[in-house]
Amino acid sequence: MASITIRNLDDEVKELLRRLAAANNRSMEEQARVMIRAAVDGQVGPVGRLDQIEKALQELTNSQGTPIRASALTGKSLPRGTLSNKRILLIIGGGIAAYKALDLIRRLRERGAAVRVVMTSAAQEFVTTLSVGALSADHAFTDLFDRNDEHDVGHIRLSREADLLVVAPATADLMAKLANGHASDLASTVLIATDKPVLMAPAMNPRMWSHPATRRNRASLGKDGITFVGPTKGEMAESNEAGEGRMAEPLEIVAAVEALLDAGPKPLAGRKIIVTSGPTHEPIDPVRYIANRSSGKQGHAIAAALARLGADVRLVSGPVTIADPAGVKTLHVERAQEMRDAVEQLLPADAAVFVAAVADWRTENSAGEKIKKVAGEGPPVLRMVENPDILASVGHHEQRPALVVGFAAETQDLLRNAEAKLRKKGADLIVANDVSHQSGIGPSGVMGSDRNRVRIVSKAGVEEWPEMTKDEVAARLAALIAERLTTIVV
Ligand SMILES: Cc1cc2nc3c(=O)[nH]c(=O)nc-3n(C[C@H](O)[C@H](O)[C@H](O)COP(=O)(O)O)c2cc1C
Repeated sequence: MASITIRNLDDEVKELLRRLAAANNRSMEEQARVMIRAAVDGQVGPVGRLDQIEKALQELTNSQGTPIRASALTGKSLPRGTLSNKRILLIIGGGIAAYKALDLIRRLRERGAAVRVVMTSAAQEFVTTLSVGALSADHAFTDLFDRNDEHDVGHIRLSREADLLVVAPATADLMAKLANGHASDLASTVLIATDKPVLMAPAMNPRMWSHPATRRNRASLGKDGITFVGPTKGEMAESNEAGEGRMAEPLEIVAAVEALLDAGPKPLAGRKIIVTSGPTHEPIDPVRYIANRSSGKQGHAIAAALARLGADVRLVSGPVTIADPAGVKTLHVERAQEMRDAVEQLLPADAAVFVAAVADWRTENSAGEKIKKVAGEGPPVLRMVENPDILASVGHHEQRPALVVGFAAETQDLLRNAEAKLRKKGADLIVANDVSHQSGIGPSGVMGSDRNRVRIVSKAGVEEWPEMTKDEVAARLAALIAERLTTIVV
């Protein structure tokens, strides 16, 4: 029996088929079958123009009887996201995080990307080719020696017809294979046969991730030009396991994909910008510390947004559990003093954005050994001393960047405190946000939430921004920074 291979169709026809399949909630194969049946039954006349074909197909293929608006087929009303016209080849490795790859497919497609998927045989133990096929609207590619796919050297085509290869989850095994040049299955063969950029999102048990062999492989893949997103620290799927090895969340991977493929305007090209993010941890003794609820989400989003506009971003991050943003050079610190030293060393810069929630105080001397509870002695007395004020020191620094932006996280008197901060600390802009539980954002306030509502305080006055996601705040602030920097003569 003759068979039809969808990927051998013309790009234009394939795109039309993809849209029709999505509009009718069918796989591409199913959609093709319905259309061929209709053609055989003589229901499609000899129409020459694509829009007429679309119209005819639309009438034929809407099984629910509800008319599909023609605009749904023209592409005008389809989500034209940040990844429209981008082709992603997703390689799913055999790890527990493979289930997150299903969400990743959806997230990439909802931004307009066409997603093809290669699954290793181990990956098929965790998620099915059926789910992958339904979500990607194409069949999952699994076999290096597939008779239908390999007659035209399918592994080469798969890589040639993609703009970017994403490996998620990247298993210890897949990293080892690529680091050492193995090509023993379809996934590893595609990876070694490609000249396209590769993004890996590793996911594995913390002991596997910290094993010297994995560290070696990670380092050599980095040298070979592979970009990484994550892994992050946190709870593992296995019970009682926590540490570094959790796969970055699908939206973090999408942000990394967007950063790698972004061809948008780069008004910040050639500008060096320092960003601080996250909390600081001030030790009490080797096991205890003073911390705050900052998650680093806003600061990391700002670093990523500035990088997308072409800036050379140096992120100084306190201890967070989210992934380093792609395309950003990240330094990890724990304490406020370390953060100050890192920022000082990064000067001079064109701009600095201080988003980190730096602890105002630290203990005068952290104990060298764990402080013991001694019966009858009562609790220890902690003497606190002030931490360096990083914003103020850079705001008045002899190498002061042309633009200094501070954040004011307040629970009361938001604007008065922000205006005072602007004056005292030598900042050009203060991004003020209400971090109280009454802010109406998230169950425990802005800190840790994905949303934020900020006011921009400058000498010119106060600009109120509506509530939006932290990514949207970041994009808008990055655009404002770009505008300010291009009007500042340095
Ligand atoms: C239940 C289970 C969970 C696993 N989770 C992971 C994982 O998260 N990361 C990883 O690198 N390997 C994990 N492995 C091991 C891989 O499945 C194994 O190394 C496999 O050979 C990987 O094949 P692949 O790289 O071709 O997908 C797991 C194995 C099992 C049985």
